[in-house]
Amino acid sequence: MERRRIVEGEEDDLVLLKNISEKDVVNTLEARYAKDAIYTRIGPVLVSVNPFKDIRGLYSVDMMRKYYGRYLFEMAPHVFGTAEEAYRALLSTGKNQAILISGESGAGKTEAAKKIMEYIAAVSKDRAEVAQDISVGEIKDALLKSNPVLESFGNAKTNRNDNSSRFGKLMRIFLDYDGVPLGGAISTYLLEKARVVSQGEGERNFHSFYQLCSAPSSLKSKLRLKSARDYRYTATTTSVSSINDGSDFSEMDKAMDAVGIGADKMEFYGIVAGILHLGNVDFDAKRDSCDVSRSSSGALGDAAALLGMDTSDLARAITHKTIQSRTEVITSPLTTVDECCKSRDALAKALYTRAFSRLVEMINVGIHAKLQELTLGILDIYGFEIMQHNSFEQLCINLTNEKLQQLFIELTLRAEQDEYKREGITWTPVKYFDNKVVCELIESRRPAGIFQLLDDEALRPGGNDKALIGNLNSNLGRHPHYVSLETKTKNDLAEFTVRHYAGDVTYSTEGMLDKHVDTLFRDLIMVAGKGSSNAFIRSLFPEADEPPSGKRPITAGTAFVRDLGLLIDELHESEPHYVRTIKPNESKRNMFDRDLVDFQVRYLGLVENIRVRRAGFAYRSPYDFFFRRYRMVTDATWPLGSGRPQRDTLTILRELRISDFQEGKSKIFIREPGDVFTLEKSRDEALNMVAGIIQKAYRAFKARLYFLRLREKSVEFLNHQKRRRASYTFYFVGDYIHAQDNEQITSQIDGRVRFAETVSVVDAKARRSSGYMIITRSHLYIMQALTYKILHAFSLNDIRSFTLSSYADGYMLVDVASEKPSATLILDTMRKAEVATMLHEDGVDVNFSDDVNVTVISKSLFGSKVLQKNLHFTEAGHLPDGATRVLVTKKDGVDPKREMVIEVAPDLASGAKVQLDEDVLSRVQIHKTAHGVAKKVPYKNFRGY
Ligand SMILES: Nc1ncnc2c1ncn2[C@@H]1O[C@H](COP(=O)(O)OP(=O)(O)OP(=O)(O)O)[C@@H](O)[C@H]1O
Ligand SMILES: [Mg+2]
Repeated sequence: MERRRIVEGEEDDLVLLKNISEKDVVNTLEARYAKDAIYTRIGPVLVSVNPFKDIRGLYSVDMMRKYYGRYLFEMAPHVFGTAEEAYRALLSTGKNQAILISGESGAGKTEAAKKIMEYIAAVSKDRAEVAQDISVGEIKDALLKSNPVLESFGNAKTNRNDNSSRFGKLMRIFLDYDGVPLGGAISTYLLEKARVVSQGEGERNFHSFYQLCSAPSSLKSKLRLKSARDYRYTATTTSVSSINDGSDFSEMDKAMDAVGIGADKMEFYGIVAGILHLGNVDFDAKRDSCDVSRSSSGALGDAAALLGMDTSDLARAITHKTIQSRTEVITSPLTTVDECCKSRDALAKALYTRAFSRLVEMINVGIHAKLQELTLGILDIYGFEIMQHNSFEQLCINLTNEKLQQLFIELTLRAEQDEYKREGITWTPVKYFDNKVVCELIESRRPAGIFQLLDDEALRPGGNDKALIGNLNSNLGRHPHYVSLETKTKNDLAEFTVRHYAGDVTYSTEGMLDKHVDTLFRDLIMVAGKGSSNAFIRSLFPEADEPPSGKRPITAGTAFVRDLGLLIDELHESEPHYVRTIKPNESKRNMFDRDLVDFQVRYLGLVENIRVRRAGFAYRSPYDFFFRRYRMVTDATWPLGSGRPQRDTLTILRELRISDFQEGKSKIFIREPGDVFTLEKSRDEALNMVAGIIQKAYRAFKARLYFLRLREKSVEFLNHQKRRRASYTFYFVGDYIHAQDNEQITSQIDGRVRFAETVSVVDAKARRSSGYMIITRSHLYIMQALTYKILHAFSLNDIRSFTLSSYADGYMLVDVASEKPSATLILDTMRKAEVATMLHEDGVDVNFSDDVNVTVISKSLFGSKVLQKNLHFTEAGHLPDGATRVLVTKKDGVDPKREMVIEVAPDLASGAKVQLDEDVLSRVQIHKTAHGVAKKVPYKNFRGY
């Protein structure tokens, strides 16, 4: 199912729909969903509908293999295809990539993010292992294991998702230019801290609390923990059928070790347990103050013990408030039980969010990469929210979505337009709703938007929520996306509505100012930051060491807008890839609720997206891809074509009477989806008619598996050699030059092509000429390039030995018994690992040696001479990074100490400096090889390259 087949009504690319309306999109998604085809695309954008069940084999290693090295449009849509595309683009363009995953809660963002990470870890794995960089394995493990840790502390069961991420996350993976992961960095956004102290009906606190309550009893007794039912902060809902807290604890606990926090995990557990005890502290009101109630003194004691605080200090801190200005510090008791509860909860929330931030910082230390050549970002961030009651948090979340939507519109449109420009195509721009105006309503500083007005109110002495709504209404009332509710009702409702791109959301200003400012009373900062005997906890409150100043710290809202801005800037600098996730029902089952999907299709802007993509052309493809996919539909292009893909493309289109297209510089653009169907149908027919072709496809499929296995074997087999990993960054393909399709080659050989690639043939004087190396089941051939003249042909049984150096050069020395006189072929190819592994599998003796005696035939005007030579492979001197090693030939019959020939491999950049060791320099002559011609440079004249 993973190869592409396009069926009407179940189009895998929505751009191909005949009619585009929300209904058509929903119909198609539904038809596909019914067949477990949860992935669909809009051009390069992946749409994913949560199956809420395991689909067999969908994420297997085999499936990864299928997507490995393949292009997006060749294959059925899949999250692995998107990951592969990003990974390949990263390596081929050197430009940072970002995969942006959006969708509402429970739509499958986090699962998608995990699959992407698993894919990247898997495909980059063998490259890394051959690099013998053992730490790469650990880095990957740490990157993957950061998930259970972050999910334990940052996810919770909500009514919409049993494992809902209550924070936004950008995971950056840093890779080197070979695609080997070197490390990573995680940024998190806005943890939903209110959840620490209260949860909605049927919801839970963060998983970590329940996991600790289900931890082994020895740990629980250290933490003085009972059951989750016994704590105010966790009692609402304790068990969830889909969650096993006990086993999740052990997974998280192990993951803490893998991410390098093993030594400090007790600090985190202590804080989580301390918070649970703290939550059970109650208060009794006295005349003008409150006390911790006697019945909760046990809880107070446990909390104080776990947080390293003195019991009475803690009691005092949560029942008093200290306000300071530049000139004075005033401490007064809190007078109501309600105020004390708020203060207790504020401490609990501060402890938890700061511990969470520290956790992220520590994970980042563990996965820190010294080198960050390339970055692949994966953004898993909360989707648009419309709740019953919307407050500050929803405003932040929805602003994030507005900004991401803006980025999406800008980048998809811009990318589209850029492509047309690049390819020299004419098109009419499409109109779309630019939601910039909504972003500005919320974040603009001047004129003041919502956040600025919140800041203004926070600064005003005596600022309050009521005054806030007045200011919002009077300043923004006339904004087209702001609806003041003042006039609609007689009770002055503390509410306002924002017309978001995704729908109208009414926000309540009650408590908004406090959340925006988010300051912690000095008493709480001091009891934790100075009073705790636990250095870890003290370090979470560094402001305790600063002298009291009247200066206001930056507000939470402002900090959020700033972080969001940085995120968007970073995404702007990256090549984006989109995964739009859709939640098909509210009951977490495998079921398709059309209305619910329809709403998401609308707010994700899918129809707009299709229109934009189609406004120009439904289909585009590089000429050579087009030719390869459709060449079988006409005799004129099957099987080889003219060798000019653009011309062949036009031939195919003409034969099929397709006329509505434009020729770009490197791609063909076809306007009508119907024409794409015609192409696909003709292709199917052509394939069906020629049974042999099907067999061929089957053989190709088998061959692919073979080459994948071969590559795996080469990893084991060549692993002990000291080589640069660069020699391994290839996919094993076998026939690199399409020899099987080339009659000039196939007419001269025995059997099918197993391997074919260009090689340099090195002669006795280190001169090079280019040729093709063809290996079949039984024979090895060397042909002259372009003329296809056979230079060497011998049975694999005649290979007496096959020798490679242990360096990352491309040399292969093939000792052949049947050559007359018997001789050694010196070949140079990029694919020596593949050839060696293949021959080794065939039973050929493959050796590694850096000192080899060879027999070479020197041809000149005066006839041929057979020479014995000793080749010595070495790393003579210090080569500039990335340069190939040097082949030193010790000339026979001459004192090798006095006379040697060095051949500097030709791929050495011509501007590069070669510094040879003194002792080598004093006894060598240099053959400078460029374009296959060896030039002798006496060492005296050697100035380096
Ligand atoms: N590809 C999938 N295959 C099978 N089940 C899935 C898949 N994607 C998601 N699910 C199921 O849906 C649940 C919710 O998915 P996920 O946690 O990824 O949602 P989310 O978009 O991250 O939501 P939130 O915004 O609440 O964090 C998962 O726990 C899993 O049970
Ligand atoms: Mg999530």
